[in-house]
Amino acid sequence: MSTVHVLNHPLIQHKLAILRSKNTSVKEFRELISEISGLMCYEATRDLPTVEVSVQTPVAEAKCRRLAGKKLAIIPILRAGLGMVDAMVDLIPSAKIGHIGLYRDPQTHKPVEYYCKLPEDIGNRRVFVVDPMLATGGSAVAAIDFLKQHGCKNIVMLNIIGAPEGVKTVQEAHPDVDIYLAALDEKLNDHAYIVPGLGDAGDRIFGTK
Ligand code: PRP
Ligand code: URA
Repeated sequence: MSTVHVLNHPLIQHKLAILRSKNTSVKEFRELISEISGLMCYEATRDLPTVEVSVQTPVAEAKCRRLAGKKLAIIPILRAGLGMVDAMVDLIPSAKIGHIGLYRDPQTHKPVEYYCKLPEDIGNRRVFVVDPMLATGGSAVAAIDFLKQHGCKNIVMLNIIGAPEGVKTVQEAHPDVDIYLAALDEKLNDHAYIVPGLGDAGDRIFGTK
């Protein structure tokens, strides 16, 4: 079974408290999504392999370490996942970016696909699927299914808030995919929204409601 990493770092928790508030403006919400994503990326890349390199400082030679390979990809689930990309690319600038467009049907809560574009060599890359919300898990499972159909073998998920139902669904469908969360919330409500959650992440990032 995969590992669920709930990142309880004080900086993440502090920013999450502001993010959740219904009084937080669109501008601040977008900035916080980005800041939390950067901190989560730092944790989710902790086990990337490195190689020793020799660097000449102004004083002497230093034995240093650099990332061993640059085969990374960031895959936001549109649209809310877009809010997490920039902060991650700042930290891992060599990563390629693919897009998977899914929206939840308001009646069935099932994901509907409307756009997909992946880097050509996606099968050789370590993939970070990003989406602020993991609710029923339907969107995450559909995105991971799609990536595996394209040959991906090394996938991790980064969600800012997850519901237990969504975590269970992803773990059952994809036991090889680790999940990084800033918070694991209590439950889903009748509209499949996360409780207490933060509302509709896409609308709050893009100011559409
Ligand atoms: C939200 C969220 C996830 C999905 C999570 O997107 O960003 O993609 O719902 O729900 P699930 O786990 O039940 O599938 P939404 O469908 O609202 O689309 P948007 O990003 O375009 O707003
Ligand atoms: N999508 C969101 O944006 N928020 C939720 O709580 C559930 C799905």
